[in-house]
Amino acid sequence: MVELSGLFLRHGLAVTIVVVEPPAASTDASTAVARAAEANPSVNFHVLPLPPPDTTVPPATAEQGQGQEPPRDPFALLRRANAPLRDYLRSVLASASVRALVLDMFCVDALDVAAELGVPAYIFYTSSASSLAVSLHMPHKQAEVNASFGDIGDAPLFFPGVPPFRSTELPDNALDRDNQVYRIFSAILSG
Ligand SMILES: *[C@@H]1O[C@H](CO)[C@@H](O)[C@H](O)[C@H]1NC(C)=O
Repeated sequence: MVELSGLFLRHGLAVTIVVVEPPAASTDASTAVARAAEANPSVNFHVLPLPPPDTTVPPATAEQGQGQEPPRDPFALLRRANAPLRDYLRSVLASASVRALVLDMFCVDALDVAAELGVPAYIFYTSSASSLAVSLHMPHKQAEVNASFGDIGDAPLFFPGVPPFRSTELPDNALDRDNQVYRIFSAILSG
């Protein structure tokens, strides 16, 4: 995001990097933000407070624990940042225009905030070309295989644009088609 900011700055755009507060007190994360801000004085940094978990969410999807939630579903955590993001963008929009919201791919839920406020949004996906090729084709391959990748043995998988590979070489989350993170990921990739 900092590298991308440089590109926007060279085109005369002002940039604010909005970071979601880490769920547990993390000096590493705070230090990283402080260091990035110090090294990039022409970029604004804004840390969004993370509201407590929504207790009205049914238990099946609610996150466990308070404060020290497991990072099992990063999407649920980031979804909670929508309200403070909306407040922050409203406060900015009161006195300035916002040309675009550039979102890390894990922050796809913020697309709803962008739509609500009429701000154009883009997803910034910093993968290798191979990872992007596999990810984009994954929903098609999953439908074709019609089973969890972890259950199909050692037969080579063929994805356009990359050499054949075995299902065991996929990330662990992708081996079980009922894995929650994999399902959310697939829903994003299926558009
Ligand atoms: C997928 O597999 C299930 C059994 O696990 C089967 O009932 C279903 O018809 C299959 N779907 C397709 C599209 O082949």
